[in-house]
Amino acid sequence: MKISLKTPEEIEKMRVAGRLAVDVLDMITPYVQAGVTTDELDRLCHDYIVNAQQAIPSPLNYKGFPKSICTSVNHQVCHGVPGKRKLKNGDIVNLDITVMKNGYHGDTSRMFMIGKPSIRAKRLVEIAYDCLWIGIRQVRAGGYLSEVGKAIQRYAVSKKCSVVQEYCGHGIGREFHEDPQVLHYYNPKSEEILLQPGMTFTIEPMINAGKRHVKQLPDKWTVVTKDHNISAQWEHTILVTDTGAQVLTLGNHEQQP
Ligand code: MF3
Ligand code: CO
Ligand code: CO
Repeated sequence: MKISLKTPEEIEKMRVAGRLAVDVLDMITPYVQAGVTTDELDRLCHDYIVNAQQAIPSPLNYKGFPKSICTSVNHQVCHGVPGKRKLKNGDIVNLDITVMKNGYHGDTSRMFMIGKPSIRAKRLVEIAYDCLWIGIRQVRAGGYLSEVGKAIQRYAVSKKCSVVQEYCGHGIGREFHEDPQVLHYYNPKSEEILLQPGMTFTIEPMINAGKRHVKQLPDKWTVVTKDHNISAQWEHTILVTDTGAQVLTLGNHEQQP
């Protein structure tokens, strides 16, 4: 697939989709508490997206994914399938929301800490957030995509954490997952990709407290760390502009780079 450059009209639609994905995270935040099941969170998000937003939850039936959001708890890295599991005090959980509206997708995820997390868990969640923003700050037209992964990896390693390599960020637009692949570690391949205004892609580093290695559970979706150490991830959808990057999924407490 070729990297598509979005027209101003397409960018407007992506802004709308991005905003809706953020609104879902804001809507669900008060429910992310000890005792709630990940199924209940999925149901609330599904109904909000479908009824209030008149939009489509992109994960539902995507390559057979059975739910409308991904919920990845503790040592789950990504693509956690909502189920009967109840969140409990000390858990950390990533909620990953992708919404399609008017034919365009917006994709964002955040970490939530339940009750009082351990110092170690809180630290990992903060390092993963900093990794996301360090990556975002590398984005500029004329720069190389490889700068994103290089900077994220350098920071994560400096904090004695590791970066998952099997899953990456992605172009996004009319398709949920488009080219290019956005690696969160250094790889000479991404040195060949020059950033151009109008590119839209996600940055979504998965940062592990232990080793980087991961495996998939028998449910064929949920990805977990092999060493069972905790993992954290945050995600934004980004637009490349002439002067840098614009975050299309900016939270109310965040500032554009
Ligand atoms: N939202 C995830 C991402 O950031 C993809 C989830 S695919 C699903 O790319 F099928 F698991 F939903
Ligand atoms: Co996502
Ligand atoms: Co994504």
